[in-house]
Amino acid sequence: MRPPPWRMLTSCSRFSLVASQVDFTAESIAPEVSSSIPPSLVRDSPYLTHPIFSMYHTEHELLRYLHKLQSKDLSLCHSMIPLGSCTMKLNATVEMMPVTDPKFANMHPFAPIDQAAGYHEMFDNLGDLLNTITGFDSFSLQPNAGASGEYAGLMVIRAYHKARGDHHRNVCIIPVSAHGTNPASAAMCGMKIVAVGTDAKGNINIEELRKAAEANKDNLSALMVTYPSTHGVYEEGIDEICRIIHENGGQVYMDGANMNAQVGLTSPGFIGADVCHLNLHKTFCIPHGGGGPGMGPIGVKKHLAPFLPSHPVIPTGGFPLPEKTDPLGSISAAPWGSALILPISYTYIAMMGSQGLTEASKIAILNANYMAKRLEVIDVTHSVTHYMTFTKINIYG
Ligand SMILES: Cc1ncc(COP(=O)(O)O)c(C=O)c1O
Repeated sequence: MRPPPWRMLTSCSRFSLVASQVDFTAESIAPEVSSSIPPSLVRDSPYLTHPIFSMYHTEHELLRYLHKLQSKDLSLCHSMIPLGSCTMKLNATVEMMPVTDPKFANMHPFAPIDQAAGYHEMFDNLGDLLNTITGFDSFSLQPNAGASGEYAGLMVIRAYHKARGDHHRNVCIIPVSAHGTNPASAAMCGMKIVAVGTDAKGNINIEELRKAAEANKDNLSALMVTYPSTHGVYEEGIDEICRIIHENGGQVYMDGANMNAQVGLTSPGFIGADVCHLNLHKTFCIPHGGGGPGMGPIGVKKHLAPFLPSHPVIPTGGFPLPEKTDPLGSISAAPWGSALILPISYTYIAMMGSQGLTEASKIAILNANYMAKRLEVIDVTHSVTHYMTFTKINIYG
């Protein structure tokens, strides 16, 4: 029979009373403890020094602390998720439903392909849709974020140059208006970064770009360009910019983070880019910023498709897979990145259709310009100079 609860209480308090009165210490019981760790590898510097690591001594205290942190998370139950402001989309519940469906959620990333036929059908279909939207020939669903896509894309470019014997091509031109991840990714790929300036409106200075490309033509690897730019500008000279890079032996990496100002209206492939990442967690509805993980697949033109990432456990490559492949290696731990969240983008694209997606781009552009105008008014009435610089340029149109 179990003792009544008050008996347990008394015995617990007796135990704590006894425990505080013991006349032994850990050292007195075991003055020496033999260890198989060689002395040279024994750590003698302090660790976990933040007070938080010694504040909670009971399971309940720790549980309550963790719950307090958890309740600070901002999710769709509370509000729209405020990151990805440039490309905010509706994160509809119906898009989210597959994520908790055990048929998707319980699939191991390394499950044999013939046991994950549904997933593979979705990869194929999504690859096709993304190719159509971007004007590319093949898509890799491996990179886990925009920055991871940048790294993957630049590594594809590097592999392409190497395959042609151009091992020395390592210069990457990046406009000063670029997002910070652009130079960081180029540096991670071992590239030498050459910065080019922008004019007062935020447009790339094309003459400066031409000079930089010509001066580095023997070693030019790539240009990284965001379209529309981080300033919200559709570069009027974008096709000329791409031409200059190609004429000087480089490849054009387009940062597609602002893709929702292109979908259905134009495309990176049409404009002249060779490779581009999409932030599915921005343009294609995956909630992020306190709300979930990301996906940054890359699309490429035919000549770069053989070099798309593969995986040592389950060989992958692009969708569709070209006949001959020469993959650069792998970019992510799992063969298809954060595959579980791909149904969100897939559902969104399928539900919107081509007309709906184009309409969404138009409305996004309208909203951005509306915000720009409103901020201009704030500027006049409240003299907020910060917004003045922002709104002097064209936001997505
Ligand atoms: C223009 C641009 N490029 C790249 C990125 C990096 O994307 P991610 O945060 O998914 O790594 C961002 C993200 O905000 C961006 O705005």
